[in-house]
Amino acid sequence: MNLEPLAPDDTSAGPANAPAVQGKRTYRADLRVDVEAIRHNVAVLSGHARRSGARTMAVVKSDGYGHGAVTVARAALESGADWLGVASPDEALRLRAAGITSPLLCWLYAHGEDFTPAVAAGVQLSASSMADLQAIAAAARRTGRTAAVHLKIDTGMGRNGCPEHLWPALVEAAAKAQSDGLLEVVAVWSHLACADDPVHASIDAQVEAFRRAHDLAVGAGLNPLRHIANSAALLTRPDLHFDLVRPGIAIYGLDPVPEHGDHGLRPAMTFRSSVALTKRVAGGEGVSYGHTWIAERPSNLALVPVGYADGVPRALSGQMSVWLRGRRRPVVGRVCMDQLVVFCGDDTVAEGDEVVLFGPGDRGEPTAAEWAERLGTIHYEIVTGMYRPRVTRTIAGN
Ligand SMILES: Cc1ncc(COP(=O)(O)O)c(C=O)c1O
Repeated sequence: MNLEPLAPDDTSAGPANAPAVQGKRTYRADLRVDVEAIRHNVAVLSGHARRSGARTMAVVKSDGYGHGAVTVARAALESGADWLGVASPDEALRLRAAGITSPLLCWLYAHGEDFTPAVAAGVQLSASSMADLQAIAAAARRTGRTAAVHLKIDTGMGRNGCPEHLWPALVEAAAKAQSDGLLEVVAVWSHLACADDPVHASIDAQVEAFRRAHDLAVGAGLNPLRHIANSAALLTRPDLHFDLVRPGIAIYGLDPVPEHGDHGLRPAMTFRSSVALTKRVAGGEGVSYGHTWIAERPSNLALVPVGYADGVPRALSGQMSVWLRGRRRPVVGRVCMDQLVVFCGDDTVAEGDEVVLFGPGDRGEPTAAEWAERLGTIHYEIVTGMYRPRVTRTIAGN
């Protein structure tokens, strides 16, 4: 396993937009990723799994939910995970290209995907259909390598996975390909539709179907592992840990089931900028497009050079605050493509002052979960959508 040390506060991507101001480093639009928090979260989660006798697959798809897949993968493998999971073969190959040699599963393909590079790189592949199995076997023949396969059963999610009535044929074909030396069936797996409601009736129905699917595979002479639990199931249903758990969001410190107790997770992403310009406006002056906000009295304003092109949703106009100089301050007027304006009343703030748009919440700053709630979405969507061409990502906490 290649676990290169990461430089502290290493700006890992994006344009150089962090000029030094009076010896202080400021940011235009930066995602600070706290690797120590990721390590802590993985240690907590893999500890729960280990107590059930299960191993942990850290899900780092979609560029590690926006945090940086390679960084997160390395941190996770150092902290108790022994497996990685991604959606696409390209994502898996990028991890291999970075020198990561751990077991690594990918599970979602374009039609007609060529699995040759993935099999050659020792990437484990999910098979939901006979077509998947045939294409994987063809790649095994081309590379001369045995392909490691996880057979996916659709137990009720209604997304990918093999429908139950087609499962016997898929298992039989997989057992045959295994005896021919083309494949090794590593696991039978599935995904839960309603894991964030741990007593939802669909869970038990899915688990029954899962057990039937596994029994059938064992009956066909296979000896597969079983995995079905995402973060929510890992945190709330130890009976569903089986042999391997697949946490994603909880690795990043965002709790999918906060109403079920404090799980001791630490959010890893902070979105920060800094004050680009300060000004005092007179009472009656309007701010930003459409003058949706008009100063009631003379006020200090701070211009922050981030906008909806940098991931600040325009729909949060008039509904968000930022952390600036030790307190939350409201954003006034419309969020623009590149900038937003913060109301500071009579307080003095300085150009170059740090502005936190969201973070772990420890100091009282807004959180990604609060943004999500305001927007009627989930924190998954917020963090996954933050990394963009003009936004830098800084790795901290090594
Ligand atoms: C198949 C699969 N397993 C596990 C996960 C991780 O889920 P979560 O982020 O809710 O822990 C995902 C993410 O959506 C997934 O698609």
